[in-house]
Amino acid sequence: MTRERVLIVSAHPLFREGIVRLLGDRVEVIGAVATWEEAQALIDETSSLVIIVDHQDADLQEADLAPLLWRGTKNLRVIYVTLAGDEMTVHERRQVAGAGEVELLQALKGEPWTAEATAPPTADRGPQWREKRMDRRDNRKHLIIIALLVAITTAVVILLLENSSLMPTAASRQAQPVDWLFGWHLRVIGFLFSLIVVFVLYSVIVFRRRPGETGEGAYFHGNTRLEIIWTILPLITVLLFATLGARGLAQATAAEKDELVVEVTALQFDWWFTYPQYNVVNSQELVLPVNRPVYFKITSKDVIHSFWVPEFRIKQDAVPGLITDLHIRPLEVGEYKLRCSEVCGVLHYAMVADVRVVDQAAFDAWVAEQAAAGAEAVPAELSELARKGAELAASLGCTACHNVTGQEGGLGPTWKGLFGAIVELTDGTTTVADEAYLRRAILEPNAQVVAGYPSNVMPQTYKDQLTEEQLKALVAYIESLAQ
Ligand code: CUA
Repeated sequence: MTRERVLIVSAHPLFREGIVRLLGDRVEVIGAVATWEEAQALIDETSSLVIIVDHQDADLQEADLAPLLWRGTKNLRVIYVTLAGDEMTVHERRQVAGAGEVELLQALKGEPWTAEATAPPTADRGPQWREKRMDRRDNRKHLIIIALLVAITTAVVILLLENSSLMPTAASRQAQPVDWLFGWHLRVIGFLFSLIVVFVLYSVIVFRRRPGETGEGAYFHGNTRLEIIWTILPLITVLLFATLGARGLAQATAAEKDELVVEVTALQFDWWFTYPQYNVVNSQELVLPVNRPVYFKITSKDVIHSFWVPEFRIKQDAVPGLITDLHIRPLEVGEYKLRCSEVCGVLHYAMVADVRVVDQAAFDAWVAEQAAAGAEAVPAELSELARKGAELAASLGCTACHNVTGQEGGLGPTWKGLFGAIVELTDGTTTVADEAYLRRAILEPNAQVVAGYPSNVMPQTYKDQLTEEQLKALVAYIESLAQ
């Protein structure tokens, strides 16, 4: 059997000696040189030759093989290898045969040999074959470690997320499907996060470039099986979540039997609640009996707001000219806050109402109390003008900010006892709240703002909106509240 003729090219003497030691008795080494120039001088143009090139030698790596071809060389093969101990790794093989254009392009593109042409001499097969088998064993080892790390990280991330109280207490039936789905989202997110982070960190740490390694990494192109898997699995996951989401939405928006109806009116910047089945009108507080389904009919007097009690989970827009629905069954007695969750103006952040979920007895008591208070709200002995003013104040929404009960903490000063009182203004001066002051305060709200209240909250549109008679009626109503 004729032995393969081999030429070794490397600037490193150890590489040259190593290859000779490894293959020397199985091939015919015709030379071991340091540069391409020296190698070219040795190439015999008529007989076949394998050139083994040091893959880690950057100068040789980038050498242009075209001159070899143009010389009309026959049956020349170039193999780039690295040598570590007695292990030889083949990185790239090029066949340089003849001067045909096709072969030239193939060679320059670095395409591998075709099956017949590539079959390396039997002598070469040992180290390469061993290398491949080791690769596969190594890959399996890496994958097992990564799978374990992903499993552990996923468990830790999910544990942390589930114990981080991301959500306030669930206090309604509607919260159940929402929280259930949210929980599964968190678990899937925990897994995806771990999968990505573990793969990236593992690769960065385990496959980092170590001192002395100067070569390029192995080149590989695509993996069809992997691409199919990572397309199909997310597709199934997304479709599954879409189905579960639709089911959850249906559960969370379904009406129930025997609902308590509450009409909700949103306005800048307050909430009113009317209970048409009881005699409660425009309450500023939302009181609900526990475990009774509630049907909210929501609307707005001005801009778009949104009705949201975080503990009930779901929310609904309040749209002017439209009645929107929300069905809630509170399951936990407690005190909550209704928040506006649609940016609606300067005091959007303060558009909050108290929500109390109470037992049936407490609800009945509250309803009775509200009905009684409602009856007293407009005293019977009001003058005709003041009565008109009272109606106007309700329809314009004045009483949303200016209560008539003397309570502190409204968005505007209370009207109870205001008329004739001495009020302190934001500029430090004082004035008497007489008819002149009140007229000016309605027509030019920013002119004399009462200390402790922000300007630019009260609409400045009344001067175009109110007739002289309406203005007189409003002032008369405020006057009637002096005591
Ligand atoms: Cu109303 Cu924000």
